[in-house]
Amino acid sequence: MTMNRRQLLTGTAALGAAGIASHSLSAAPGRKSVASARSDFPWAGNETYLNCATEHPLGLHSSDAMREYLGYLTNGPDSGRAKYENAELQERVRKRFARLIGATPAEIAFAPSTQLAENLVLDGLRIEESGGNVVTNDLHYGGSLSNYQARKERGLDARIIKHKDYTIDMRDWEEAIDRRTKLVSLALVSNVNGYLDDIRAIADIAHSHGALVFVDVIQAAGAVPIDVRAMGIDLLACSAYKWLMGGRFGYLYVAKELHEGRLQPVQFGSKGAGATDARQYQVSTPNHLGFVCQHEALAYILELGVDNIREHVRPLTERLRKELPAAGCACLTPAGTESPIVTFLVPDAPRARTRLSEAGVIVTLRDGNPGEMRVSPSVFNNLADINRLIDALS
Ligand SMILES: Cc1ncc(COP(=O)(O)O)c(C=O)c1O
Repeated sequence: MTMNRRQLLTGTAALGAAGIASHSLSAAPGRKSVASARSDFPWAGNETYLNCATEHPLGLHSSDAMREYLGYLTNGPDSGRAKYENAELQERVRKRFARLIGATPAEIAFAPSTQLAENLVLDGLRIEESGGNVVTNDLHYGGSLSNYQARKERGLDARIIKHKDYTIDMRDWEEAIDRRTKLVSLALVSNVNGYLDDIRAIADIAHSHGALVFVDVIQAAGAVPIDVRAMGIDLLACSAYKWLMGGRFGYLYVAKELHEGRLQPVQFGSKGAGATDARQYQVSTPNHLGFVCQHEALAYILELGVDNIREHVRPLTERLRKELPAAGCACLTPAGTESPIVTFLVPDAPRARTRLSEAGVIVTLRDGNPGEMRVSPSVFNNLADINRLIDALS
């Protein structure tokens, strides 16, 4: 889509105003708030972006820092580059992510992505060799389901619970998990419809059978509160490009009880050599540009507070739930779901696509009859954005 002159100016002026020289390594405490978040994301002035479950726009705090780092990579001097490529910055990122999920820094490894981390978990627990089973559900990510399907073809007993009306019945978990279950694996928030599992109850069932719990939190971290201990999570992974607001790498949380042999490292190299904590699961030189981005993004999220971000988004998703059924769009997200993702059935998907495009509204719309529309607002959206979407479909 093309931008008009005003939109272009708003975006570029905002970028210019927060120039390279004025950037500091961390957002100043107390400066940022949910109320002013819209101005931190220039994209919000250029399009009605309601698609953070696909990818979150970058905040100025991150892009300023990345621009400065890229400047050093392009022009030198070496000492400038070192400002961003250093162990202290990485450790601050590790600490910030640990704080976000209620873990300790020693339990956090950097990982290339969510799915690679899930593979590290499956291989490191020697799931196939163990002769045990894995239990998951069909609201987990499609790529993960392909992973379990491929392992099933190699002999793994992978049990995939089917949703009923887009929720997973607790009785189905109880039935599928047994004393041979080694791992229960699920997306804490489903990318399909935002469904948020009752993770504590599932973990209790898993643990009572001696199984571990792995959660993919790519659709949850930064958007809904996570506390690994209170929730009973043993292993967790995500990438940063969705609700963590940018950076093309990810995290793997491994509870400390698993460090001494229960989760084996399966890849080896320079970075994890000799480590006895979660760093033993790391291999290569990290994605520094991603760290620079995450360093600022995590500071921002922690400063705003995930609870406050969640509070801001709730009336937006509630309005959609209230208004869209009147426009013929049934909601596939169970009532009371505490996530920022809501999915609707759209009777005439091609027409909806045209109307949304004319209105400059960005969502995920999957073709079909009816089509599935996933709407995922974040902290920079407001009710006017939501009304624009509703008007386009009414
Ligand atoms: C629930 C879920 N898991 C995993 C992924 C993919 O993650 P990655 O690219 O980090 O492997 C996605 C991407 O949309 C997702 O929604």
